[in-house]
Amino acid sequence: IPVDPFDLVIFGATGDLARRKILPALFRRFCAGQMEGGSRVIGAARSDLDRAAFHEVVRSAIAEFVTDGRNDPATTEAFLETVDYVTLDARGDTGWDALAARIDPDRVRAFYFSVGPSLFGDLALRLHRHGMAAGKARIVVEKPFGRDLATAQALNATLAQHFREDQIYRIDHYLGKETVQNLMAIRFGNMLFEPLWNSQYVDHIQFTVAETVGVAGREEYYDRAGALRDMVQNHMMQLLCLIAMEPPAKFEPSAVRDEKLKVIRALDPVKPQDIVRGQYLPDDDKPGYLEHVGDPTSTTESFVALRAHVSNWRWAGTPFYLRTGKRLKARTSEIAVVFKDAPHSIFGAEAGRHRNILTIVLQPNEGIELGVTIKEPGPGGMRLIDVPLDMSFAEALGPESGMVADAYERLIMDVVRGNQTLFMRGDEVEAAWAWTDPIIAGWEERGEAPLPYDSGSSGPVEALALMHKDGRRWREIRK
Ligand code: BG6
Repeated sequence: IPVDPFDLVIFGATGDLARRKILPALFRRFCAGQMEGGSRVIGAARSDLDRAAFHEVVRSAIAEFVTDGRNDPATTEAFLETVDYVTLDARGDTGWDALAARIDPDRVRAFYFSVGPSLFGDLALRLHRHGMAAGKARIVVEKPFGRDLATAQALNATLAQHFREDQIYRIDHYLGKETVQNLMAIRFGNMLFEPLWNSQYVDHIQFTVAETVGVAGREEYYDRAGALRDMVQNHMMQLLCLIAMEPPAKFEPSAVRDEKLKVIRALDPVKPQDIVRGQYLPDDDKPGYLEHVGDPTSTTESFVALRAHVSNWRWAGTPFYLRTGKRLKARTSEIAVVFKDAPHSIFGAEAGRHRNILTIVLQPNEGIELGVTIKEPGPGGMRLIDVPLDMSFAEALGPESGMVADAYERLIMDVVRGNQTLFMRGDEVEAAWAWTDPIIAGWEERGEAPLPYDSGSSGPVEALALMHKDGRRWREIRK
């Protein structure tokens, strides 16, 4: 789909996120023909680079992080024609006039704040002062959006001084993932699921986001955040919302975000006995969490599992189990909707207990699997087995199906098009913190330390017990 020419300014253009995600995403959209008609990328950072030196930064980012073979030298050089650089001081006057002179006031212009939140206010103020905040200006901000309700409110208030809410794009890259959007297509594009999508038919829902990596390389940030702030308050909360929300009347920003907000506000406070924290131990050749952060007294969690309740008409009595952690046994993210047992087994007790499970796999192999019960083939009588009705997207649609588009590509193009559906609204972020804050305060009050778990495991055994005590169990963390 063609887009109108735009100017995209990246503040923090020499930083890690810009190199890993933003610049490669823009390069891929360039390859897809979405930067025609003179669209421009303007890097801005404190480093005193000229255009050629910044091009070197971009070249190396493309060489390293565009891994699908499209980064041949000719295409990279063609992309670089669109890339400019301005040395800029976020807290001073340097560079702002030069930036303003390069921006086309009539175009869509997006300012990507790829910097720490402590600079958000300075950038917003200077964009306003130099006449770049009006008209078709949009700002994109990354997580962490605050570290609790008070700081998130303060950030929202700061941005609101110079930008309207419809100009603010709070990125949660999980919302840009193909399967996450498919989740809405599945729920609201099929007649099959929605009638069963409630506590009458759904026993429970489990969300797993397991990673094999540790926190090396981002120790400082992570040790101040922990798994609850890093993953649950944002990414997992968004997944929960999309699963639990009522059908919005339209797939448009306010309708979708209103429904998500209602889910967050319907969440009960989490009881201390319904949450387990963990910290990974060293294994043979790799350091553990405490060695990674270099602080033997750290009580930051690298794993968290919890039971949540959405207290509303649809979900009363259906628990939502969430778990996420670093250095676990495999990298996998999935949501499993576990349906209740059939009310009566006509096949007798020996047929065993069989349940339908709808599994939505976000990564690594995106797809959807519906577990159904059938007769075991053969002459052995009426024996039942569970088999998956499996639909791996890559298999069903072919490798060229567009699944390759990275979350950042999609979200950046949504900013350019002015579509906020997949971005978080200020009140959503605040509501999510309002639910998270008391959990963290409880840990602090009780002086609770996380439980150790083996690297390469499924987390602390207590996390398994969290479900066992309800007569349920986690699905295995599979590759
Ligand atoms: C980030 C977190 O937002 O998401 C990281 O800060 C985490 O800690 C990452 O590793 C996971 O993203 P993905 O897309 O790899 O699942």
